[in-house]
This record gives sequence, C-alpha cells and structure tokens, in this order.
Amino acid sequence: MTVRIAPSILSADFAALGTGIAATERGGADLIHVDVMDGHFVPNITIGPPVVSALKRVAKVPLDVHLMITDPDRYVEAFAAAGASMISVHVEVLPHLHRTVAFIKSLGVQAGVVLNPSTPVVVLEEIAPDVDFVLVMSVNPGFGGQAYIPRSADKIRAIRGLLDRAGSRAPVEVDGGITEANVGLVVAAGAEIIVAGSAIFAAGDPEAATRRLKAAARTGLATVLPHAE
Ligand code: DX5
Ligand code: ZN
Repeated sequence: MTVRIAPSILSADFAALGTGIAATERGGADLIHVDVMDGHFVPNITIGPPVVSALKRVAKVPLDVHLMITDPDRYVEAFAAAGASMISVHVEVLPHLHRTVAFIKSLGVQAGVVLNPSTPVVVLEEIAPDVDFVLVMSVNPGFGGQAYIPRSADKIRAIRGLLDRAGSRAPVEVDGGITEANVGLVVAAGAEIIVAGSAIFAAGDPEAATRRLKAAARTGLATVLPHAE
C-alpha cells in the first residue's frame, strides 16, 4: 500500500497555475487533480480540455481529471487527448457505466468511478473488477473549502473491502475537506490517493503544505502497516 498526494488546483491561483503546480511538485505531489465542472451536474463552472492541455505542458506528474459533468461520454476523448492520465466519472450520471469505463480504458487512460456522499457503495458491485480506481467524495461536489463528512471513512473501508472481495487492487481516492488533521483517518480506512485543495493552496505555501500533508498521510499509513515508511 502506498499513499499518493493529488493537489486540487481548484483552490490555486488560476492566473498562476504553472507556479502553483511546480510548488506542489517540489513538496512531493504525486498527481495533479483537475476539477472539471459544467454548471449542470454541479453549480460551479471551471475548466475544459484547452486548459488541461496547457497544464500537461507544465506538469511533471500525471494529471488526474475529475469530471463533474452531466454528459461525460461526450468529453472523455477530448480530455484524454488533452493529456489526462486518469479520468474519473460520476456513477450518478451514467446509465451505461460499464461502456464508459471500457471506453476510457480504450483510450489508454486509467478509468475511475466517483460516488457522491449519498450514493451507496453497492453501485460498485458489478463494476468493481473493471475500474482502475474509485473516488469517494467526502463533500458534496462543486466547491473547494467544504467540511469533511465524517461518515466517509466508513465508506472508504467498505469500498476497500468490496474491491478486495472482487480481487481488485484498484486504489481508493478521497476528495473533499481533507486536512493534515483528518488525512491519517482516511488513509487508515484504506484511501491511497489523497486529494486536497484548500489545505494545500489556501495557506499560501503550497510546497510546505504538500510536504506536511504527505507526512501526515504516512503517519496514517503507519497505523495500518507498522513497517510502512
Ligand atoms: C470538490 C472538488 C474537490 C475540491 C476539494 O467538488 O471535487 O477536488 O477541489 O477541495 P478541498 O480539499 O478544499 O475540499
Ligand atoms: Zn475533485
């Protein structure tokens, strides 16, 4: 088990994304989490494929693109072409999730499925063997800076168990309200990819904040794996 930190640029200075990304990379960022919002699935509107292409030119680590849009099937190809290494789609908007997951993988991109806080774990039952990762929303999607929903750790644990039973080592990613104070808890529950926006970019020193969050996450890992780094 490893733990990877994925800073969410949603809370970064949009006029200086390259600088923000470089700072988190110096601090040990493993991925860059890119939040795509369409003003329909969620109230907010953010960025599209042209910005992802621009980020791809400056980021040294892979781009993890989280699609919070009502019709992801129309756009996954464009985000793959723009340079996404990972694309996640919400189960709530996809009646043909199996087809969408297969399509993302056919583009050479890792396919993730995302569950809103109110979406039950059981929706993963049939798709578990096919996904490359599962993203657990620990806030209602749409905005950065919201408070972590405490039930999320139990949900992470349940999803880890479901994946294990399906014979899958796909990692669980967690997104929303993660801080130095609660990251250990979600890692101990089984999260291996940690998204953090405001905890990294709001304090003014994204490099140091990334480093601190990674250290705190490893402390959580040590509680489940005593010999982990
Ligand atoms: C929320 C987004 C998150 C957001 C997290 O809809 O999916 O990725 O940036 O921000 P924080 O870490 O501030 O909750
Ligand atoms: Zn996100």
